[in-house]
Amino acid sequence: MANVTSLKAWQSLLTRTEQAQQTPIKALFAQDEARFQKYSLQAQNILLDYSKNPVDDATLADLLALVKEVGLDNWRDRMFHGDRINATENRAVLHTALRNRSNTPVFLDGVNVMDAVNRELARIKNFVNAVRKGRWRGYSGKRITDVVNIGIGGSDLGPRMVTQALKPYADDRIRVHFVSNVDGVEIANTLRPLNPERVLFVVASKTFTTSETMTNAQTARNWLMSSAFDERAVAKHFVAVSSNEAAVKAFGIRPENSFQMWDWVGGRFSLWSAIGLPIALQLGFKQFEELLSGAHEMDLHFRDMPFERNAPVLLALMTLWNSTFLGRHSQVILPYDWPLQRFAAYLQQAEMESNGKSVDRVGERVPYTTGAVIWGQLGIDGQHAFYQYLHQSNTVVPADFIGSIESSTPVRGHHEKLMANFFAQTEALMNGISAEEVARELAGQGLSEQEIERLLPHKVHQGNRPTNTLLLKRLDPRTLGALIALYEHKIFVLGVIWNICSFDQWGVELGKTLAARILPELQQAQNEGRHDGSTENLIRYFKQQREKLKS
Ligand code: F6P
Repeated sequence: MANVTSLKAWQSLLTRTEQAQQTPIKALFAQDEARFQKYSLQAQNILLDYSKNPVDDATLADLLALVKEVGLDNWRDRMFHGDRINATENRAVLHTALRNRSNTPVFLDGVNVMDAVNRELARIKNFVNAVRKGRWRGYSGKRITDVVNIGIGGSDLGPRMVTQALKPYADDRIRVHFVSNVDGVEIANTLRPLNPERVLFVVASKTFTTSETMTNAQTARNWLMSSAFDERAVAKHFVAVSSNEAAVKAFGIRPENSFQMWDWVGGRFSLWSAIGLPIALQLGFKQFEELLSGAHEMDLHFRDMPFERNAPVLLALMTLWNSTFLGRHSQVILPYDWPLQRFAAYLQQAEMESNGKSVDRVGERVPYTTGAVIWGQLGIDGQHAFYQYLHQSNTVVPADFIGSIESSTPVRGHHEKLMANFFAQTEALMNGISAEEVARELAGQGLSEQEIERLLPHKVHQGNRPTNTLLLKRLDPRTLGALIALYEHKIFVLGVIWNICSFDQWGVELGKTLAARILPELQQAQNEGRHDGSTENLIRYFKQQREKLKS
């Protein structure tokens, strides 16, 4: 592909940035009454309203022309068909096959991967039913009541987010817990109240070499042994999810207790595989299938809908416009659905590990900003924390507001209050409040002219803050599946436009290598390695102080 910045649509978009910065979004509504109808769409159970963005018909036409010029349709086909589009790792990208409920063949090197996917799903189903129905028992013959998932990054964030989000659909048979951090506090706190006879550990690691996960798995094993005193207990209390069979075996987990992952599933796109075991164990296999079905429906939408009615494409284009062209480099995710409290953390890995890159597919430095900084938390709590910044700071932060028409846990009188805030915030962020309006309001309260003058600049809200609104019918397994897939495809579209490889993550390796080098320095009394002046002194100080604290 030619350098994306030289494409006609890119060049045309550049000419539109000044006007977009100068025209308030609310003025665009005044110019075009049909804006909502034109700039919103329904995808499965999700309404996406992107009308509160600084785009007009001409800008949108350029943005849509750009996705055509970069060959998105071709890239999309290549992904669905199992081409090795993860070029730096020479891998296909086939998380869509994991939820391919139509079961149409997907060939990789002449082999239909659906056979392996279906085989593994059947194993997951049997296993989940055995645990949930009490046929799978611990070493002393007791039922399993608690599942502890040990994994990090993509082997943690997805299942952790989904099990939290779908708790209202769970029964009380199995409680799920997550341990990701190598800070011993997490595993110690998690295990303290649990009974080893009733705990099942899922060691989830695609590589089965990740230091945090392996350390926690070993600690969990020791904990089990301190109660069972018999190595054979491991078979009853440990299962693995990995693509590294040899390492799983070396850990002592039998092949029949090991679930497969494939190199064509990226960690951050893996919750649809056996990495989703905690989800299926908590909710039952049927609900897990619902989640897969929702994602599959979004896959079909992404694959089949024209770009101008395609939710992932439009969501991506709003981010592209706001960040790369208008220079708003961070993006906040604001769910107004309590169960989605880990959604921003999940998206942070999905988006930032995928698109936080600075060279293109052939290794040339790209001259534009890629991946936005993703952050956020529950919107209603954010209102009493950082919304001040969103409304009145000098930095414009585009926001995604996510809410539901119906609460998954209705409590009389609550949902309307929550949603009143949801709607109020996007309105306030766009419209702001002008000096004239503030002056009128203060005069109405009886303030003197002097007082009004003093207070006025502090109370003005500039507005003109872009937002997307995603309104779900209800946060159920199917809709959540669709919502996650919507964002996955958004990430893919952005990667295609930015011409970067969204499916590798080389940027996490250097820190891991250095940590492995520093570890023996911390374990030994002397022998600090050669580091920069700051790091070397910090390590020395740490060790000296540690000795003092011991004495
Ligand atoms: O450190 C980054 C990363 O490689 C992620 O991409 C991945 O999701 C996570 O670590 C965990 O890796 P694994 O599943 O191999 O333990």
